[in-house]
Amino acid sequence: MLRLLYVVILFLAISPAYAADNGGYVGERECYACHKEIRAEYAKDRHGRVFTSAPNGELQARGCEACHGPGAGHIDAVDREDLDLRIQNFRSEKGLPTEANARCLACHENGERGFWKGSRHELSGMRCASCHKIHAEEARPAMEVCFSCHQERRAQLQRTSHMPLREGKMTCNNCHNPHGGPGPSALRQASVNENCYACHQEKRGPLVWEHPPARENCANCHDPHGSNYESLLKVKVPYLCQSCHTTLGSHPRNRYDGANLPVPGTPSTTMQLAGKGCLNCHSQVHGSNHPSGRRFQR
Ligand code: HEC
Ligand code: HEC
Ligand code: HEC
Ligand code: HEC
Ligand code: HEC
Ligand code: HEC
Ligand code: HEC
Ligand code: HEC
Ligand code: HEC
Ligand code: HEC
Repeated sequence: MLRLLYVVILFLAISPAYAADNGGYVGERECYACHKEIRAEYAKDRHGRVFTSAPNGELQARGCEACHGPGAGHIDAVDREDLDLRIQNFRSEKGLPTEANARCLACHENGERGFWKGSRHELSGMRCASCHKIHAEEARPAMEVCFSCHQERRAQLQRTSHMPLREGKMTCNNCHNPHGGPGPSALRQASVNENCYACHQEKRGPLVWEHPPARENCANCHDPHGSNYESLLKVKVPYLCQSCHTTLGSHPRNRYDGANLPVPGTPSTTMQLAGKGCLNCHSQVHGSNHPSGRRFQR
């Protein structure tokens, strides 16, 4: 009974002309007739070249319809001048993002996309096509695409201290997987520190004397996206240090006292606060391996 109903609905849903065979698939040659421009792009792009010259399996061999789905209903709609063109366009507000994305994930669920489900980008209703252009020679998005939504990151890159992204030696993808990741903030590694160690191995240790904030999270002191303070620091030394070291031990109190800040233009400075400030003496702020480096002075 249910089965019969299903067949009837299916019959009504797709064009009678193609209903008899193939579940509404018409074959991509039909598409070429009306979409000459796309056809020309398709001959050059990665999908078109692979699907046309060496399709791997039934789905790829469907060509245009591998992504856009069965075209019979669409051609019928065009004939009837129906404004609903009845085909997946990957962008319109009509269909759900999940429906559009499922078509891409049919082939790309593995590897980098393993974290897509549940990622912030997915949960924000983004589509694969929000970043990827398919009918284009280059389907891999450039960093520019990220800036269309994350404008503050573009601004940060222009600051004096930055990793070499704007020089073209790194991109966002070196640290983030735009499809989601195992750690916080879609990082490729399980934690902020693991991310930093991937390139700054010497900071991993092991160290005899650890500075707890460095072991806990490099982002306690650094902003990886750029800063106007040297070494990507979030706050200038000594204020950075003083933001945590407010209570005093054996250390003379005036060393912490902002009132002793050097006055610009005068030679008077205190060693504690001038130049590299606390770093004049506590130079090994990431921790120390020296037997007497407990205070990070060597
Ligand atoms: C009889 C002509 C004709 C054929 C055949 C045809 N299309 Fe279309 N198609 C159109 C027209 C007209 C439009 C609307 C104007 C435009 O976007 O070019 C359209 C629009 C589209 C769109 C955009 C839909 C939207 O909502 O923006 C897609 C995707 C598409 N066609 C894919 C296909 C595919 C895939 C095939 C082959 C299965 C196909 N078309 C076959 C005429 C045709
Ligand atoms: C790998 C998946 C894929 C394949 C294969 C594919 N398309 Fe598309 N198509 C898309 C996506 C995604 C879009 C949305 C626009 C974009 O990303 O460039 C799109 C957009 C379109 C549009 C709308 C263009 C516009 O400017 O709005 C048409 C028409 C279209 N495709 C036709 C075709 C035809 C015809 C073929 C076969 C020759 C084809 N597509 C093959 C994924 C695909
Ligand atoms: C029928 C299977 C299939 C579907 C559906 C499909 N792709 Fe692909 N995709 C492939 C194959 C095959 C390649 C080529 C892989 C290779 O070069 O090793 C590819 C390559 C890519 C690449 C890399 C392109 C490059 O220039 O290196 C991107 C990005 C991509 N696909 C995105 C998408 C998106 C987005 C969609 C949905 C709109 C989609 N794909 C739908 C099979 C598919
Ligand atoms: C936030 C932007 C963004 C979104 C959304 C996005 N991607 Fe990507 N994708 C990228 C970037 C950037 C790259 C290039 C990565 C690189 O070059 O290492 C990429 C690379 C790819 C590649 C080729 C690299 C590889 O691993 O083989 C495929 C395939 C791909 N994406 C598929 C998808 C699919 C499928 C979706 C939707 C489920 C999607 N992407 C959503 C930004 C995005
Ligand atoms: C269409 C808009 C859009 C584009 C394009 C875009 N993003 Fe996003 N991104 C978002 C939104 C929305 C969020 C979620 C923000 C929130 O919830 O506060 C987000 C969140 C993120 C996060 C935080 C993820 C987390 O789990 O906390 C990272 C990292 C990120 N994006 C990186 C990128 C990168 C890299 C690119 C370029 C490849 C990119 N984005 C392109 C809209 C976009
Ligand atoms: C050197 C590694 C690295 C690079 C390169 C990088 N990020 Fe990040 N990003 C991080 C880390 C680490 C965090 C988490 C920071 C934290 O927890 O304070 C983060 C967090 C984020 C967030 C979410 C945090 C928030 O403010 O909501 C977004 C969005 C983001 N990055 C976007 C980008 C974009 C866009 C690019 C490329 C222009 C980029 N990132 C390049 C390491 C990086
Ligand atoms: C993909 C590799 C990579 C990752 C991951 C990475 N960095 Fe870097 N970092 C670099 C490169 C390359 C430089 C520039 C080195 C140079 O110029 O000698 C750099 C420079 C720096 C600098 C010095 C900046 C300056 O203005 O002198 C700091 C601080 C820094 N990184 C902190 C971090 C932190 C914190 C993390 C983790 C959130 C991190 N890095 C993750 C590659 C990376
Ligand atoms: C307590 C604050 C603090 C924390 C936490 C911290 N740093 Fe730093 N970092 C600094 C300061 C201050 C400098 C500048 C040192 C100087 O100028 O001598 C610096 C400089 C750097 C530099 C550039 C100079 C160099 O030593 O190569 C890198 C790279 C760096 N930090 C990486 C990291 C990494 C990776 C982590 C996490 C393991 C981290 N930092 C945690 C305060 C911190
Ligand atoms: C995010 C908080 C935080 C920041 C920022 C910070 N520290 Fe620390 N620091 C700690 C903690 C926690 C300890 C270990 C607890 C303790 O022994 O007092 C510590 C320990 C130390 C010690 C050794 C103390 C001892 O008793 O052995 C020195 C020296 C030190 N920090 C110097 C600095 C300097 C210099 C800076 C600035 C570059 C700085 N710290 C920034 C949290 C911080
Ligand atoms: C002129 C060198 C010098 C400067 C500059 C300096 N310190 Fe120290 N600091 C020391 C010495 C020496 C000790 C060890 C005292 C002891 O062991 O009794 C010490 C100890 C510490 C300790 C360990 C706890 C304590 O009080 O014994 C902390 C935390 C500390 N300094 C933080 C800072 C901060 C934050 C700054 C910058 C505002 C700073 N120091 C500037 C020399 C300096």
